[in-house]
Amino acid sequence: MLSGKNVLLAITGSIAAYKSAYLIREFIKKGAQVKVIVTEAALQFVTKVTLSTLSKNPVYKDFIKNEETGQWNNHVDLGSWADLMVIAPATANTISDLVSGKGNSFLLTTFLSCNAPVFVAPAMDLDMFKNKSTQSNIKILSERSVEIIEPTEGELASGLEGKGRMEEPDQIVTIISEYFLNKATLKNINILISAGPTYESIDPVRFIGNHSSGKMGFALANEAQKRGANVELVSGPVNLETPENVIRTNVKSAQQMKKEITDRFKNIDVLIMSAAVADYKPVKEYDNKIKKQEAELNIVLEKTPDILKDLAKIKKKQVVVGFALETENELENARQKMKRKNLDAIILNSLSDNGAGFGYDTNKITLITPSENRKFELKTKDLVAKDILNFIEECI
Ligand code: PMT
Repeated sequence: MLSGKNVLLAITGSIAAYKSAYLIREFIKKGAQVKVIVTEAALQFVTKVTLSTLSKNPVYKDFIKNEETGQWNNHVDLGSWADLMVIAPATANTISDLVSGKGNSFLLTTFLSCNAPVFVAPAMDLDMFKNKSTQSNIKILSERSVEIIEPTEGELASGLEGKGRMEEPDQIVTIISEYFLNKATLKNINILISAGPTYESIDPVRFIGNHSSGKMGFALANEAQKRGANVELVSGPVNLETPENVIRTNVKSAQQMKKEITDRFKNIDVLIMSAAVADYKPVKEYDNKIKKQEAELNIVLEKTPDILKDLAKIKKKQVVVGFALETENELENARQKMKRKNLDAIILNSLSDNGAGFGYDTNKITLITPSENRKFELKTKDLVAKDILNFIEECI
């Protein structure tokens, strides 16, 4: 359940901080990416070098990254990068700050910015843990949906025995994995996603293509696998890495894409066509490179198969969602397209919106269903993918 997840690990000033080094390794063994935030006090117990070596990422402590250039660490970006935040060990002091909503450290502002699930693993002496203030703070955090990973009983750094030892790293990872297993909202759902452009060959060196980078489709595939779905991605020619746990098939032309998608269609629950499939291809593909001879060259085009329309015609249980890339009369055209192709929904993105459509890391969509238009703000394609998959969850 942790494979491919972005884990933000925050370490505060407790002797249990040495266990956080093991915690990083446990997360990485499970296939997660880890970024670490430390407090000043944490660095009295572990070094940045240890943590950055193990996590293979820089370690964050301060708002300012470089005094001279004014470069700063962006707590908002880090908060939205995270699929989960773990504060381990969490001291009584940090727990109290989390409750108060303070923002006077990089850790605290990142916590305030983070919309992902947060896990807090307290570590302190037994009386500090039993203290009414600490108990009341933990209760408040728990009521605010922060997951508390209870400390265990045993020998403490003070020499006393009791409850206050941070849970062991392997146990923390098991608890978090189980949390995500229970939240795997798309578990056992088979989702097929298309992404990228298609290339329709004119001759061995030239083709008709488009500017799709595949980013939107790959973001959807990544989000779907994070939610526990079995994800297959059929991709046109793009330069992107396959997300964890996703089975990818590469194709070039619309005809090839049609074959790969059609072969899988009867076994899937959801089809999302985010690929920019060519509508036309050359009638004839030349065997050799066309020479520059006449002043004009006419290439006759014919329609490609409409993959989405053909499959939506024969759909039974499947939820079928298309994309519409429009440049004018956007809402009207997209709604017509949804009806004509018999879709459960269509995602409109318009080239008239800055930052939306081809190539960008962001997109601005309207989710159109037979009964409504849901408009969303411009946001990263990762966040757009979440909005679309929330809708898919509603459908199934
Ligand atoms: O890849 P990115 O750079 O991240 O950009 C994302 C995107 C802009 C490509 C994506 O968000 C998007 O809009 N994809 C669909 C683009 C498109 O082809 O739109 P369309 O309006 O021409 O097609 C409508 C739908 O029919 C699409 O779901 C398309 O996949 C499908 N189609 C189109 C033609 C065809 N022959 N067969 C199809 O199945």
